[in-house]
Amino acid sequence: MPAPATDPLWLQNTPTRSYPQLSGNVEVDVAVIGGGIAGITTALLCKRDGARVAVLERGVVAGGATGYTTAKISALQQTKLAQIQRIHGQPTATMYAGASLEAIALIETLIREHEIDCSWERLPDWTYAAYESQVDAVREQAEVARGAGLDVHETTATPLPFEVAAAVRLDDQAQFHPVRYVHALAQLIPSDGSHVFERTAVAKFDDGDPGTLTTEDGHTVSARAVVVCSNYPLLDRGLFFARMKAARSYLVAARVADEPAQAMAISAGEPTRSMRPYSDEGGVHWVLVGGEGHSTGAQEAQPERYEALERFAREHFDVVDIPWRWSTQDGMPLDNLPYVGRYLPGSQHLFVNAGHQKWGMTNGTIGARIVADQIAGRLNRYADTFDPNRIAVRAAPELVKAQATVGAHLIGDRLAPAEAASADEVPRGEARTVREGIAKVGVHRDDDGELHTVSLRCTHLGCLVHWNAAERSWDCPCHGSRFDIDGAVLAGPAVAPLETRDVS
Ligand code: FES
Repeated sequence: MPAPATDPLWLQNTPTRSYPQLSGNVEVDVAVIGGGIAGITTALLCKRDGARVAVLERGVVAGGATGYTTAKISALQQTKLAQIQRIHGQPTATMYAGASLEAIALIETLIREHEIDCSWERLPDWTYAAYESQVDAVREQAEVARGAGLDVHETTATPLPFEVAAAVRLDDQAQFHPVRYVHALAQLIPSDGSHVFERTAVAKFDDGDPGTLTTEDGHTVSARAVVVCSNYPLLDRGLFFARMKAARSYLVAARVADEPAQAMAISAGEPTRSMRPYSDEGGVHWVLVGGEGHSTGAQEAQPERYEALERFAREHFDVVDIPWRWSTQDGMPLDNLPYVGRYLPGSQHLFVNAGHQKWGMTNGTIGARIVADQIAGRLNRYADTFDPNRIAVRAAPELVKAQATVGAHLIGDRLAPAEAASADEVPRGEARTVREGIAKVGVHRDDDGELHTVSLRCTHLGCLVHWNAAERSWDCPCHGSRFDIDGAVLAGPAVAPLETRDVS
């Protein structure tokens, strides 16, 4: 049986529109970097305020994290509220829950106003304890959620196809087809001096009034406000790379014989298992199963992770086949709140909407509302909670730990021995580090036997990249940049490709 394709279900047979590459210099009021849900929603809300906007997307609209999500739209969010309460207190957890509900309402309003066909459905979301050891986490989440005003119910009577040790349910949450939704919003942007550009990578930002973005091809966009909505902020101002960890997680789409229960669910601890149903236009029923997360570049990216999810799906659902599997990368802030607002204290022109910590549908959407309000000079009640320069993040012990990890990789990885004495030893479909002179290089031999050799030195700040066997890419353990087998950037903060190398 052939291995499933490593492509997301959401990008199959989905009619999408393509947009031009920037081929000259343009002037707008607001420039938005990133064409996912955060960037497109931000641009649209700014346009509705009367601004001329330009979206600059390195790849294609909704082709990044937005096309790779489970697309759950919930205020319950596994154990997130309890984690926020522990760090920031109940009032902040309450604000976060309120922001999530407001995001859900905004998405629903946009869908109704623009009659968007994106399989929008309201349904309950569950956090469950797969084992006794997770029961306390479920109870704590329920208590904090209740304190935040969410009408949650604790019960072990779930519609899930297995027993649980405890569970909490929040009704009336939602799910949709994320690519259809974002493409429908994107189509509303071009006209009246506004644009969407694809295959347009930003290399540089010069502050000023207006500010100027320069693309890799040397074209410029001048704008009075710039909003960074890429998954991982690529402009190093504010040292965002040091305030966020990058995490990978995996998903499989299983075609199932019977319609699964109309419920979203996620386990309260490891191993994480996240589920949602989906029925496509052809009446085919699917279950998406996600989990198996780990830090990017942690040398844990192995094909076995997909197999674990597939086993879970086959064990609990009447699986016909599993044609699609894919993985995704999320920016994880150090203190469990997204980074939304002015990039630096007092920034007049540069804003950020990032760090959506695996809940990008709600966080990217409320982030868009906050930033659009700030650009328009309106107050937003959630702005302080999501402020990227909040004291809690600057004081987070995690910041010191993250920097220590980077230091360890910067030095330790250079001292590690090469994995193969020469390129001849690299098997087909695999990769090894090989010493070449005083440096080590990364050598991948593809399925046809051809060698692809790159410098291991990440072009962001110089950590050494690690081989990702699950997706055949080179991933940086320091801040999550990813590169393909020939060194092209798949994910920032790096903007320049890995250098290619010759091996003897
Ligand atoms: Fe920062 Fe590689 S992503 S050093």
